[in-house]
Amino acid sequence: MSANFDLKGRVALVTGASSGFGEHFVRVLAAAGAQVVAGARREDRLHRLVAEVGPERALAVAMDVTDAASVAAAFAAAEARFGTVDVLVNNAGVAAPGMVHKASEADWDWVVDTNLKGAWLVAAEAARRLLAAGKGGAIVNIASVLGMATSRGHGIYSATKAGVIQLTKHMALELAGKGIRVNAICPGYFKTEMNDAYFDSAAGQQYIAATPGGRLGRMDEIDGPLLLLASDAGSFINGALLPVDGGHLVMSI
Ligand SMILES: NC(=O)c1ccc[n+]([C@@H]2O[C@H](COP(=O)([O-])OP(=O)(O)OC[C@H]3O[C@@H](n4cnc5c(N)ncnc54)[C@H](OP(=O)(O)O)[C@@H]3O)[C@@H](O)[C@H]2O)c1
Repeated sequence: MSANFDLKGRVALVTGASSGFGEHFVRVLAAAGAQVVAGARREDRLHRLVAEVGPERALAVAMDVTDAASVAAAFAAAEARFGTVDVLVNNAGVAAPGMVHKASEADWDWVVDTNLKGAWLVAAEAARRLLAAGKGGAIVNIASVLGMATSRGHGIYSATKAGVIQLTKHMALELAGKGIRVNAICPGYFKTEMNDAYFDSAAGQQYIAATPGGRLGRMDEIDGPLLLLASDAGSFINGALLPVDGGHLVMSI
């Protein structure tokens, strides 16, 4: 096998690392050899994660992705400790379920600021620092199947994830000549703090049973896709959208 999934010598930054996918991604990237910066607002959780992964290979940074100054400070802290971030997993996200016409302006601002503005602020900061350092890198945006499909009650979230997908393609286009690859994973449903109450309910279980795979994803089923896009194994993959959804998007209508 010639594919190289090894991340030794790489510096990864994961946003939304205090729970769910982000926490998992920190463990996966560290196990693949990277030094990993774990960013989110709940610092106590980040410190616990870093203690588990090993303080020599991980760093906790307080980071609010909606705030440009906080994003810049997190990258500066990462750079001071490990060097230029060359693998970014742009993962922080929130959801405020509800019909589009009933949503409040506050819900719109919260979801759009976190999922879309936040993804842009973080990816742009990573790109500027890589360009300044003359280095290549990999940006992996965590979009969603809802960036490609619809689901009643998830319109605003879905619009932000469609925005992340377009952001991914444009950044891939603009940075391709600089050795910076920008791709997106579009997860289907995995149980995390964002949705566990729903998937533990009878309605949630019925919903999942009706999907083609008939089950939620297991966390380890996103490891391969993440490492493919983050490592040299994916060195010619740029601007790609990778659904990891057990076939949910190809559901028969
Ligand atoms: N689970 C799924 O089925 C699924 C499916 C498709 C896509 N996704 C996407 O996967 C990503 C991770 O979600 P998850 O399922 O793992 O949910 P989660 O467990 O609720 O994690 C969300 C993370 O985002 C962070 N976050 C929220 N607002 C933030 C902010 N302003 N600044 C920094 N961090 C912030 C949270 O940390 P703090 O609160 O500590 O800041 C938390 O670590 C999201 O982008 C989500 O849209 C999830």
